[in-house]
Amino acid sequence: DWKMSSFVEESIKEIKEKVGDKKVLCALSGGVDSSVAAVMIHKAIGKQLTCIFVDHGLLRKDEGDQVEELFRKQYDINLVRVNAQDRFLDKLKGVTDPERKRKIIGEEFIRVFEEEAKKIGKVDFLVQGTIYPDVIESGAGDGAVIKSHHNVGGLPDHVDFKEIIEPLRNLFKEEVRKAGLELGIPEDMVMRQPFPGPGLGIRIIGEITREKLDILREADYIFREEIKRAGLDREVNQYFTVLTNMRSVGVKDDKRTYDYTLALRAVKTTDFMTAKWAKLPYDLLERVSDRIVNEVGHINRIVYDITGKPPATIEWE
Ligand code: XMP
Repeated sequence: DWKMSSFVEESIKEIKEKVGDKKVLCALSGGVDSSVAAVMIHKAIGKQLTCIFVDHGLLRKDEGDQVEELFRKQYDINLVRVNAQDRFLDKLKGVTDPERKRKIIGEEFIRVFEEEAKKIGKVDFLVQGTIYPDVIESGAGDGAVIKSHHNVGGLPDHVDFKEIIEPLRNLFKEEVRKAGLELGIPEDMVMRQPFPGPGLGIRIIGEITREKLDILREADYIFREEIKRAGLDREVNQYFTVLTNMRSVGVKDDKRTYDYTLALRAVKTTDFMTAKWAKLPYDLLERVSDRIVNEVGHINRIVYDITGKPPATIEWE
């Protein structure tokens, strides 16, 4: 795509000129946008860029290691990984309200980021992976907050910097993906489904505990693996599992069980503002269900979410 390759080239040139020999700081979430932004800036200014990756413990299976692998090994980017799992879990102890969870996770994220940024010292620029739809969404708000999004507009206010760089500000998601491919980021990473900033924290209904996170992570991994194996990972736009706070009676090896109900969620959508539930093949659902109840402990019932958005939202919280 010559248009995209010249956009990328142009952007790299502009960043070089703008930054000069100054220092740049980037908060890396592991998502597509911040990753593409970081790699683009790295191409322009190399070691003048430092990325801070806050692992809040609410990531999917192996995700933290994958982010580290990509940025440290493939790109040799200055990367600080902060393992803040305990901190987040502590703050979230006993919290069940979805909006409070979101607030706590978002605020703690900024706090951890600021603490790490302080250790780095004075930086001149801060990178934001803002893309065009974020610009519209945060500007044209009608005041009705459905969910307080973490990532959008959440800026640290205790980090000393001069200016924000937003290299993807004029791009739609599909263009961000193209730019990523142009920059040599692996297709698996670039084509990834969206993952919310508060992570698995908003896919566990009720209190978040270490045990529930472990259960959910394994279940989610199996669901993703089977969707991919069925060749549906591009066709279905978002798919994940939700650990409901409900337990019910089941039977295993002739014994009564009383364990969690897990929900599968898979949707087709273009803009994520409205969505239809995906009509996944029954044999796929059967395989997923069998595997999860057999391979993951403490789940004895699986349900499929067959609601569109609206009236439901894509995430459960
Ligand atoms: P809902 O659940 O509102 O989600 O239908 C729409 C899309 O947004 C994602 N989502 C988030 N993304 N930070 C994000 O970066 C957030 O706090 C957040 N909450 C929801 C959700 O996964 C879906 O793709």
